[in-house]
Amino acid sequence: MSQDSTLRTFQVATGICLVCSLFVSTAAVMLAPRQGENKRLDRIKNVLMAGHLEEAGKSAGQIYRERVEDRWVNLTTGDFVPDDQLADLPDPNEFDIKAMMMDSFHGEDIPADEDIARIKRRPKNMVVYVVKEGQRLQQVILPIYGKGLWSTLYGFLALKDDMRTVSGIAFYEHKETPGLGGEVDNAGWKASWRDKLALSEEGSVVIEVIKGRVDPESEQAHRQIDGLSGATITTRGVDQLVKYWLGEYGFGPFLKRLREER
Ligand SMILES: Cc1cc2nc3c(=O)[nH]c(=O)nc-3n(C[C@H](O)[C@H](O)[C@H](O)COP(=O)(O)O)c2cc1C
Repeated sequence: MSQDSTLRTFQVATGICLVCSLFVSTAAVMLAPRQGENKRLDRIKNVLMAGHLEEAGKSAGQIYRERVEDRWVNLTTGDFVPDDQLADLPDPNEFDIKAMMMDSFHGEDIPADEDIARIKRRPKNMVVYVVKEGQRLQQVILPIYGKGLWSTLYGFLALKDDMRTVSGIAFYEHKETPGLGGEVDNAGWKASWRDKLALSEEGSVVIEVIKGRVDPESEQAHRQIDGLSGATITTRGVDQLVKYWLGEYGFGPFLKRLREER
C-alpha cells in the first residue's frame, strides 16, 4: 500500500486518535483522586474564609483540624444527627451537596411554595461547621446554595456565637458574569456582610440584599447589604438563597435550637 494512500492516512489518523484517547483517559483516571482532594481543600479554605478563620503561617488543613468540627444536621428536625444514625451518611469530608440532593435516599424535593432559592431539591441532612473555643460555641458556618442568573451559587454563611449576626460569607462555585454577578467574590462586598444582623430575636430572617446602595443613615442599615450594580438578578438570587437557608425551611430549626442552648 502506498504511504500516501487515503486508507493509509486514515489508519495513521485512527492510530494517533487511539493513542491520544488512551493518554487522556489514563490521565483522567489518575488525576481523579487529586482533583477530589483539591475540591475538598478548596471547600475547607472557603469555610475558613467565611468564618474569618485564616491565620498567617498556618495551612488551611491545620487550622481546620484545630478549630472546626464538621457535623451532620437533620434539616427537618434541626438536630445534629445522632451517632447511631451516622452509618447511613458519608464522612462529613465527603459531603457533596449536588450528589446528595439528587440521590433518591439522601435528597428530597422542595415544595414549590417554599423554594425561594429556586433549587428544587436539597439533601435531607447537611454538614455544618462548628467553631468552638474550649466548650464555648463561637461560630457556626452553614453551607448555602441558590440560583443566580446563569448558575447556582454555592457557598458558606458564617454566624457569630449569638446565632443571629453574620460573621462572613464566601461563594466557592458559580458561573455569574465576572464584573457583574461575579462580584459576589469581591472582597469588599463580602466584608460588608460582617456584623450585619441576619435574624431577629424571635428568629425571623431580617437580613436583605437590596437593589442599590445601603443608606448608612437608615435605621435598617444594620441588616442591609448593597446590591451588586448591573446585576439585579444575581443580587436577588443571593438575597433569596440567604433567606431560604436561614429561614424555617432551611437551617431555621437548627439555629433556634442552638440559640436556646446558649
Ligand atoms: C453579557 C451579560 C452578562 C450579564 N451577567 C449578569 C449577571 O451575572 N448577573 C446579573 O444579575 N445580571 C447580569 N446581566 C444583566 C441582566 O441581564 C440584567 O440586565 C440585570 O440583572 C439588570 O440589572 P440592573 O437593574 O442593575 O441593571 C448580564 C447582561 C449581559 C448582557
